[in-house]
Amino acid sequence: MFNQKNKVTRADYEQWRAGQDETAGRIASDPDRLLFHMEPELGWLNDPNGLVQIGDTYHIYHQYDPFDAAHGGPVLWNHLTTKDFVTYENRGPVLFPDSDLDSSGAYSGSAFVHDGKIHYFYTGNVKHFDRDDYDYVLTGREQNQIHMVAENPDELGEKCIAVGPVDYPDDIGTHVRDPKILEHDGIYYMVLGARTKDDRGCVLVYTSRNLEDWSYATRIELGEKFGFMWECPDLFELDGELILVCCPQGVPADGWRYRNPHQCVWFPIEADWEAPSFKIVGQGMPPMVDAGFDFYAPQSFEDAAGRRLMIGWSGCPDATAESPTVTRGWQCALTVPRVLNMRDGKLRQWPVREIEQLRKECVSVTADESVDCPGRLFDAVVSCQGAKSIELEVREGVVVRYANGMLTLDMGEEGYGRDKRSVELDELCDLRVLSDTTMLEVFINGGEVALTSRTYSSAAPAMQLRAEGDASMEFYRLAR
Ligand code: FRU
Repeated sequence: MFNQKNKVTRADYEQWRAGQDETAGRIASDPDRLLFHMEPELGWLNDPNGLVQIGDTYHIYHQYDPFDAAHGGPVLWNHLTTKDFVTYENRGPVLFPDSDLDSSGAYSGSAFVHDGKIHYFYTGNVKHFDRDDYDYVLTGREQNQIHMVAENPDELGEKCIAVGPVDYPDDIGTHVRDPKILEHDGIYYMVLGARTKDDRGCVLVYTSRNLEDWSYATRIELGEKFGFMWECPDLFELDGELILVCCPQGVPADGWRYRNPHQCVWFPIEADWEAPSFKIVGQGMPPMVDAGFDFYAPQSFEDAAGRRLMIGWSGCPDATAESPTVTRGWQCALTVPRVLNMRDGKLRQWPVREIEQLRKECVSVTADESVDCPGRLFDAVVSCQGAKSIELEVREGVVVRYANGMLTLDMGEEGYGRDKRSVELDELCDLRVLSDTTMLEVFINGGEVALTSRTYSSAAPAMQLRAEGDASMEFYRLAR
């Protein structure tokens, strides 16, 4: 009924939603619903968008196809708010593909606060399905970078083109999207993910002095081809360094790296702000932001406390791994917000401390002791100075293992297409498993490595910490 060939207005959505109460009620009470992660009320969710703090409230928007859990429909922006990252309010869709500028989908984008106003930028996707030259990649498609100015995060303002097809360099095809803004010394930089006509991913950089008039400045790219399209770029300053996070599509696997169909990686960037030019330092194979099965398209923002917080989409486009909840009407989620830091040249991620409000009693165990696992909600923190090997069964058949310098997340038999992921480590100092009903977020060595994965196995009957060498675990049950 709803597809990318037709616009969707608020009225269309509301009329449709009026008939969905029973489905929404059934989904809300499903035992596989996540209890401290955000999921779609109905249908499908992907990228976090427009992350911003206004006063004491965090606003989190996300890509949302409420009409089809398998995502055959158009995307809107849904709006969530929270003050503490534990209790959220779902305020419903706010941005609809209802104009000629975005008729096939209100794609990803961001928010930027200036002089008390919120500037939203997103990509209006237009596919000219009716044109003979529509080929998805090079012709018959528009990606408009749209600017809206709002005083109120519930009403996003009038849609105006900030950067459009006429503004793209000649060698770029029709895939240009996901605007994100960085301000440096009074100049605004807009980064856009792009695909060249010969299928190389890169990031286009536009500059502006007023957030309205933009001109093409430069691009960020690697010498060698690394994926055919770079989605969702995020350029930000962190602990004195400039970092680019982005999602190159279609990078071939390299050993244990880049095993998902599309990647999320980060690059250190050397900037010449005057020129401007942005060079990727090292030009090597970039580190993955998260080495799990279900992580993509993260976005970061700075909050009022000065923390750089990143939220990822726990999902992956074109993944062969499945979500058994699709047949029950929904799939995908957002990760918990993670605080980012740079230390010793490494990007570290750590769940916001607000999540710790959910911690109930703590049980401490040492190596070869076990703890009864009272369900699927827990926060297990393992310290393992010098341990040669560690094994922790976090669900029936799902194991986090460290042996021979490799950290492995083994999904066992019930991974729905998720098998194993490994990461090479110089040593294992600590390991944290943050577990919601059907989600695992694993953080290694203070967050130097992260692995996010959905899991649909039942809880481990007793969680035993098996270790060769010194190790201990603080196990917190989590509850509201
Ligand atoms: C990444 C992405 C973005 C795009 C959005 C569409 O997952 O493909 O590049 O804007 O999703 O939903």
